[in-house]
Amino acid sequence: IIPSVTAADLSPIPDRALSAGLLVGKWPAGEREGVTFEFTEAPIGGAAIDATGSPLPEETLQICRDSDAVLLAAIGGYKWDQLPPEQRPERGLLNLRAGLGTFANLRPAVVLPHLADASTLKREVVEGVDIMIVRELVGGIYFGQPRGFTTNQEGERVGFNTMIYSEPEVERIAHVAFQLAQKRKGRLCSVEKSNVLEVSMLWKEVITRVGEQYPDIELSHMYVDNAAMQIIRNPKSFDTIVTGNIFGDILSDAASMLTGSLGMLPSASTSNDGPGIFEPVHGSAPDIAGQDIANPLAMVLSAAMMCRYGLSLPKVAEQLERAVTAALDAGYRTGDLHTPGMQKVGCSEMGDVLVDCMTREFASV
Ligand code: NAD
Ligand code: IPM
Ligand code: MN
Repeated sequence: IIPSVTAADLSPIPDRALSAGLLVGKWPAGEREGVTFEFTEAPIGGAAIDATGSPLPEETLQICRDSDAVLLAAIGGYKWDQLPPEQRPERGLLNLRAGLGTFANLRPAVVLPHLADASTLKREVVEGVDIMIVRELVGGIYFGQPRGFTTNQEGERVGFNTMIYSEPEVERIAHVAFQLAQKRKGRLCSVEKSNVLEVSMLWKEVITRVGEQYPDIELSHMYVDNAAMQIIRNPKSFDTIVTGNIFGDILSDAASMLTGSLGMLPSASTSNDGPGIFEPVHGSAPDIAGQDIANPLAMVLSAAMMCRYGLSLPKVAEQLERAVTAALDAGYRTGDLHTPGMQKVGCSEMGDVLVDCMTREFASV
């Protein structure tokens, strides 16, 4: 599924991978490799607000810190949309990312051969697309101070945020991106808005300087507005993209549609040490909640990224990825990916198909 990346791309934590946690359950994907997964469930977002009043209880953060990896389901929903910013579910997610220091967010947008006709774009535009978006995740306008609401001199209410990056923050994400590009096709495109924003001027300067240490990488620079257009116009012109927090957020949702659906995009967020966070790019999809029609593949592929990068279990990752391709091969599609002639299934039915694919593989070995 993510052919151009290998386990060495991130900083895995091999020694901790098999260490004991609190036992919750077993995972079929692990059994074949003799691995037992021990899950600890901890609330974040709306569930945590309802249970404790906080979108990220201290206990949840501690459980995450004590785990080998964090597999995160989506947060957010209408019920909590009117809360003040620091109490919203989204703040829980941001605090978890900051709390674990997961500054490097990898969002691969890979068009699977089976799904080249599922995109809203033409087959010839998307076929073979393999883009890795490296998004800085714990800085930029999401975290910059000052932020808030106030009243201006005219007595009008204003909201404000600060888009800020320090040189070290840009340097560390630059190294991740250059090293990833080395393992891929050797092309890195840095996306910013340096024609207007000082923060982007600094970004570009630092990326260029770090690039001198990677003479084997073909580095290019692009303004974010143009990049949004080029991703749709000619996605195959991109290999690896490095960008700041908010631009990466927006570009990854756009890139998801190359693959057929936002429900296909997994992600991995890593620091230089400690557990990574593995989560789909999509949100809680409240508009389709409770209908059992959501596409679970982004979540399953995030679990695969967790196994490969967070737990150094590439074989388990492969099993999950093979189950996904086998299910697609067999023609199963959730509604977001459905094309004529395919077998339309719901979310839990797709889950059953995946388990079935894995079980049949057990039998054939
Ligand atoms: P969203 O990603 O939840 O949904 C956008 C659109 O894509 C919706 O029409 C939705 O139905 C569809 N979609 C998303 N995932 C899908 C899937 N797996 N299968 C089929 N269709 C899918 O974004 P939104 O609607 O802008 O936000 C909803 C809530 O989710 C908000 O509270 C937001 O803050 C939150 N959110 C959370 C995360 C996260 O937890 N990582 C990410 C994005 C948004
Ligand atoms: C994402 C989401 C989050 C983000 C929100 C829910 C805080 O959109 O992971 O892409 O903006 O980073
Ligand atoms: Mn997003």
